[in-house]
Amino acid sequence: MKNHLSFIYSCCVLLLLSASSIQADPDDNRNVYVVYMGHNTQDHTSASSLHLSMLKQVIGRDAEKHLLQRYTKSFHGFSARLTEEEVKVFKGMNGVVSVFPSRNNKLATTSSWDFLGFPLTVNRSTTESDIIIGVIDTGIWPESPSFTDMGYGPPPPKWKGICEGNFSCNNKIIGARYFKADGRYDPQDFQSPRDSDGHGTHTASTAAGNIVRNANLLGLHTGTARGGVPRARISVYKACWTNGCQDADVLSAFDAAIADGVDIITVSAGAAFAREIFQDSSSIGAFHAMKNGILTVQSASNNGPSPQTTSSIAPWVLSVAAGSKNTDLITPVRLGNGLVINGFSTNPFELDKMYHLIYAGDAPNITAGFNSSRSRLCIKDSLDKNLVKGKIVLCDGSNNGESVMLAGAVGCIMTYAGPFFELMNSYTFPVSVVKPDQAKSIARYIRSTRNATAVIMKSEDVKNASAPYVASFSSRGPNPIHRSILKPDLTAPGVKILAAWPPVAPITQVEGDSRVVPFNMISGTSMACPHVSGIAAYIKTFNPSWSPAAIKSALMTTASPMSTLVNSDAEFAYGAGYLNPLKAVRPGLVYDAGEIDYVSFLCQEGYSTEDIISIFGDNTSSCSQLMEQTKVLNYPTFVIPALRSQPIRVSFNRTVTNVGSATSTYRAMITQPHVSGLQIVVEPDVLQFKEIGQKLSFKLSVQAILRVLDEPIVSGALTWDDGVHQVRSPIVVHVP
Ligand SMILES: *[C@@H]1O[C@H](CO)[C@@H](O)[C@H](O)[C@H]1NC(C)=O
Ligand SMILES: *[C@@H]1O[C@H](CO)[C@@H](O)[C@H](O)[C@H]1NC(C)=O
Ligand SMILES: *[C@@H]1O[C@H](CO)[C@@H](O)[C@H](O)[C@H]1NC(C)=O
Ligand SMILES: *[C@@H]1O[C@H](CO)[C@@H](O)[C@H](O)[C@H]1NC(C)=O
Ligand SMILES: *[C@@H]1O[C@H](CO)[C@@H](O)[C@H](O)[C@H]1NC(C)=O
Ligand SMILES: *[C@@H]1O[C@H](CO)[C@@H](O)[C@H](O)[C@H]1NC(C)=O
Ligand SMILES: *[C@@H]1O[C@H](CO)[C@@H](O)[C@H](O)[C@H]1NC(C)=O
Ligand SMILES: *[C@@H]1O[C@H](CO)[C@@H](O)[C@H](O)[C@H]1NC(C)=O
Repeated sequence: MKNHLSFIYSCCVLLLLSASSIQADPDDNRNVYVVYMGHNTQDHTSASSLHLSMLKQVIGRDAEKHLLQRYTKSFHGFSARLTEEEVKVFKGMNGVVSVFPSRNNKLATTSSWDFLGFPLTVNRSTTESDIIIGVIDTGIWPESPSFTDMGYGPPPPKWKGICEGNFSCNNKIIGARYFKADGRYDPQDFQSPRDSDGHGTHTASTAAGNIVRNANLLGLHTGTARGGVPRARISVYKACWTNGCQDADVLSAFDAAIADGVDIITVSAGAAFAREIFQDSSSIGAFHAMKNGILTVQSASNNGPSPQTTSSIAPWVLSVAAGSKNTDLITPVRLGNGLVINGFSTNPFELDKMYHLIYAGDAPNITAGFNSSRSRLCIKDSLDKNLVKGKIVLCDGSNNGESVMLAGAVGCIMTYAGPFFELMNSYTFPVSVVKPDQAKSIARYIRSTRNATAVIMKSEDVKNASAPYVASFSSRGPNPIHRSILKPDLTAPGVKILAAWPPVAPITQVEGDSRVVPFNMISGTSMACPHVSGIAAYIKTFNPSWSPAAIKSALMTTASPMSTLVNSDAEFAYGAGYLNPLKAVRPGLVYDAGEIDYVSFLCQEGYSTEDIISIFGDNTSSCSQLMEQTKVLNYPTFVIPALRSQPIRVSFNRTVTNVGSATSTYRAMITQPHVSGLQIVVEPDVLQFKEIGQKLSFKLSVQAILRVLDEPIVSGALTWDDGVHQVRSPIVVHVP
């Protein structure tokens, strides 16, 4: 299991890095910390000298030596090597909002866009090439066909970004920077924005890659690769490296991206677990992005399917879950008795005939000290070469296949029961991964005959007509910290996504696998996130003045309703539903919110006026004044935590802004959950708009008693409908 997980994680699906690994300085007991000071009211020079004088005051003479990075462009703070004692002093200093260790964050298309109902031929704004997507990731491979700049003019005049290091930008990739506070590079790291991993190249091309025809992975899944906004520009902020994405570097990336003038930020990475909002680099960065009118889209992370596993929790972030699409890749195994078993994997190899099939438990390398109970798992060196050579081997476990291939087998059937089934990827020889019950039937067949044979077929695309489902690995809510905010926000395709890949990045972790592929197919919430970032940018091309909250609302209220097979996670798995690009561009109404509303939310959540003044950069409003103005955050979903057998009686004030037709009449439609004793009422239940931009408020009241036998999650929905637009918000009552 351990071996297996490390394989999945290192296989570029996401980089899993030890959650607790705070980086230690070799020569003393100092660790890298971020000192976050909120909004920046000073220029670079005075902010920098303030940072240094604070450090001198605390550390003394050596201050300069321990200072790492300064955040002075878009917000205020710095990173430094500090002792625990020094951290305590900083925490008590005036103007310091939070001090937290710089921890590691995890890196959490062809048919996917068509499946979303977003064909190549959609209408596009002529201003699409003025939109800039900021990608915080592992860098990019600029020579990929997805990023050529043929037909692009110079960057839009507002652009202030630059290109750093041994790296040439073009008119498609118009900015590229890299950040590494600790200066510790791995041998394979390029000390430039160039991507040696593949993750960043993949996500950037899903969001905004050019149209590239006949893209495929070694002949599989052939189609046209493209981003959501293929004409948009890309600016790259490399904060993720072989050893992870440190908070200190993620903050530098946000600081620069905001100041450079990007329109949307996409971050397919996040903390290993949910953290307090101002101890989380993405939440802090996204807050200041929002203040500057920039929406941040983030992956929900890959720690599902257990509840409360999402680390993307801030209301100003759009958090994306990963779902399936209508094509799946299967790798059939045909047995000598005619039985065909559909396994999973990405298998480009074609076996020419039937081969002998052997159970790994029947082939231990006894001279090397292995017995059947160990060889059945196909661990390293455990197989007897004489017995497996030229055969297909059935293993009771799964790994990268290297040991089986080295023993001389022609193919391998692996068994995997885990929750990460959809993450099964590439191998260096024919492999199909089956579930335990399928493995049992194969084992029965082997036992039933003297001459068991099998063939592993090349993977094929299969249509899956059933509704898209949320991948098991996708992190779930409820929101571990801010219970009133539904997380994740919505779902997008994140299983087996084909997108651009650097020629230097391997597609397996097997040593010596030197296959070069311009496109690779991988899975993760990391792959779902840039689908949404692309459509957020698409919406912005048509509605350049919309706030981040308005774009977020448009994406959420138009998402297609989903359902789960098990009703234990429902909205906490998929949020508002499945991304629907063409509806999102015409939402009719939006639930808007601005900086002040989020700050008021922070007051409600117990932040002090002093913190608010630092974060917000406005020393005139106190929390009590702010809470007077905005009582509840105008969020496009409704969450009600409840206790069983206790009556609930809550109401929500919400305000919708008309962005559809000037004169329109919306009627409230309630989808009542199938639970007695639950009542949802909307007042007023008709909203009549007379002009674009007009705001109208309503009150949604929920009365309920969840009884002992009711599901732990009961959900309904409110849909405002004018006959043209359906503006849908889920209503979730749950027992936490
Ligand atoms: C594309 O734009 C044209 C002209 O504005 C419009 O008539 C048509 O309905 C649009 N098509 C779609 C699918 O939005
Ligand atoms: C710059 O990048 C090119 C292309 O990857 C590489 O060949 C060259 O060695 C690099 N030069 C330096 C100084 O790193
Ligand atoms: C197989 O080997 C392992 C470790 O060498 C040992 O713990 C186990 O008892 C052995 N199993 C059998 C069935 O001999
Ligand atoms: C058994 O393992 C040893 C050590 O790895 C290896 O040298 C030997 O060739 C193996 N024997 C067989 C029959 O596979
Ligand atoms: C076993 O199967 C193989 C492959 O189908 C075949 O070539 C061979 O003749 C069979 N041997 C016996 C003893 O049936
Ligand atoms: C099709 O989708 C269903 C869930 O909707 C899933 O359980 C099943 O495994 C999928 N089939 C294939 C072949 O991927
Ligand atoms: C607010 O801050 C400004 C400058 O930072 C200062 O001049 C002003 O006196 C402050 N006002 C209050 C009410 O504290
Ligand atoms: C809801 O809005 C109404 C009208 O603006 C206001 O009177 C009421 O106090 C608000 N209620 C809450 C709970 O915010």
